[in-house]
Amino acid sequence: MNTNQSGRARGPGGGRALFARGALLAAGAALLTGCQESSQLVTLGDMSSAFNREIFWMSVWAIAFSIIIFIGVSYALFATVRRFREENNSAEPAQFHGNNRLEVVLVAVPVLIVIVLSVLTVRSMARLNPTPENATSVTALSRQFWWNFSYPTATAAAGGVVTNGNEMVMPTRNPVAVTITSGDVMHAFWAPNLGGQRNATPGTEKTWQIDTDRPGAYQGNCSMLCGASHANMRFKVIALEPERYNAFLQAAAAYRAPTPEPGSAEERGYTLFLQGKPSTGALSCAACHRVQGTPANGAAGPDLSFFGTRRTLGAGMWEGEQAEEMLIPWLANSPGVKPGSLMPPYNGATYQVNGQVQKGGVLTEQELSDIAAYLRSLRLPEEADYWRDTPVIGSTEGPQGGTQ
Ligand code: CUA
Repeated sequence: MNTNQSGRARGPGGGRALFARGALLAAGAALLTGCQESSQLVTLGDMSSAFNREIFWMSVWAIAFSIIIFIGVSYALFATVRRFREENNSAEPAQFHGNNRLEVVLVAVPVLIVIVLSVLTVRSMARLNPTPENATSVTALSRQFWWNFSYPTATAAAGGVVTNGNEMVMPTRNPVAVTITSGDVMHAFWAPNLGGQRNATPGTEKTWQIDTDRPGAYQGNCSMLCGASHANMRFKVIALEPERYNAFLQAAAAYRAPTPEPGSAEERGYTLFLQGKPSTGALSCAACHRVQGTPANGAAGPDLSFFGTRRTLGAGMWEGEQAEEMLIPWLANSPGVKPGSLMPPYNGATYQVNGQVQKGGVLTEQELSDIAAYLRSLRLPEEADYWRDTPVIGSTEGPQGGTQ
């Protein structure tokens, strides 16, 4: 169904024409999703997605139908005013009560309008709501203020399922069924270029499909006001050609975190990561974070298994070079640089836990830098690096310049 749909809806217009058609919707989406620091084009007018094409054509029909109604009503109004306007010496108009034919028409026409609009809507819902059987399954768990994307069918050799924090990898040319849930308050999953928006509600799981024909990195945001860092609860969706996606998933399933060289910064960082530093009150990272292939199996924070491969930090708050620069300040005082972050500070700053003010533990600059070195060493093998040669969709700057 989906493939049919994409084949037909794409038409001969080419990217430019499709872009123009989507421009109106794009303006609306830009307003709704707020301004990003990068110049990435976040738009629900992205016609690379069969989901967006379905919604677009449904809107075209609904708007066309509304225009016809508008013209009809306007014509009837002005024709009546013109025909029955008062003239000098005009005789008293005919006096009558009730007109069955007119009343039947006035009921029948609105009923017809409602039926046509309902059919359009229900038809689109019937196409978009069922999860296609061939869909790739991804689970999106939202929490204040980050995301975990896991792949229920990809069991990791080291235990658990493949999971990545804040960066979701998906195949192109294949619908993806995202099962959306929340671990605390209500959030909402929205990557406008790839499909619609879905609430993430604690205690429920809702499945939603997204798709695209075009490989690239797309912007996603939490779109439900959920607390102090709602605006900093972003994510990336990286769409790869199916072969590359499969290579990613296989390598990710086989991945075990590398064993650090004895005496290296990475090894010191790993020890701190697992144990914290009880003498100064610095809590263990492993209590809240998972790293595949190590004893670290915490679930209160984002999965860090492939941290070194990721290009965003703080749930998309910083990207690229900024993410690199911010890593140490982030480790030193996460709630200080991201309001409402639940990660404790490690520079002795105070923070709030359940409304109580507490003092964070203390690590030295060197120790923070060791943990950063360990985190950066958590890299997927080269063939599974989903950022390699991935265009940032709509971006007009940088070496990863966009494709349109
Ligand atoms: Cu989560 Cu807004």
